[in-house]
Amino acid sequence: MRAARMIVAVDGPAAAGKGTLARRLAAHLGLPYLDTGLLYRATGRLVLDAGADPADPAAAEAAARRLRAADLSRTDLRGPAQDDAASKVAAVPGVRAALLEFQRRFGEERGAVLDGRDIGTVVFPQATVKLFVTASAEARARRRHAERGGQGPLAEVAAEMAARDARDAGRDVAPLAPAPDAVLLDTTALDAEAAFRAALGIIAAKVKLSA
Ligand code: CDP
Repeated sequence: MRAARMIVAVDGPAAAGKGTLARRLAAHLGLPYLDTGLLYRATGRLVLDAGADPADPAAAEAAARRLRAADLSRTDLRGPAQDDAASKVAAVPGVRAALLEFQRRFGEERGAVLDGRDIGTVVFPQATVKLFVTASAEARARRRHAERGGQGPLAEVAAEMAARDARDAGRDVAPLAPAPDAVLLDTTALDAEAAFRAALGIIAAKVKLSA
């Protein structure tokens, strides 16, 4: 498959399987991979570390502007508080503006697979292929609960996730939404292997059509 400088956008709601899928696609296609959620997670983390409020636009934008590559490999970017902080800073226009150039530069160098919420709509509206990966709210809550080792009530994970998806989809700037030319991939009934195969089929069809 012709992968040189190809941009594959993988967007969708929380715990839909974007990360696992995007990482595998990148390895298979020989493309760099960027988990753009890490940029928002690390920004939220810096705000929490400073004892500030992630919903405070000034504090959030200042954190995004002082983000360094090393912040993305911190091991304390996941968990309920981090999910919440990431989605609060992500609703701040100044944060999104500060993180946009890094994402574009990353993809423009050698092509890339990027996963997030606005890759196909804002970051790379001209992406070669756009996948919108989703799954039922129940399946996604079960997956996130399992990722956390089954700790705590499932209903709590489901409620947190619903609140975050509503915030991500309802914000004014770069809301979570499929691009008009995105291909929907529902992974509710698919395991990681089946989702990978389905995505490869979508990419192959698209690349062949535009070749
Ligand atoms: O892994 P999960 O799907 O739960 O979340 P993530 O992809 O790591 O993203 C964490 C949060 O960052 C999301 O809830 C969004 O608020 C925000 N985000 C965004 O706004 N735009 C992106 N391109 C990626 C993430």
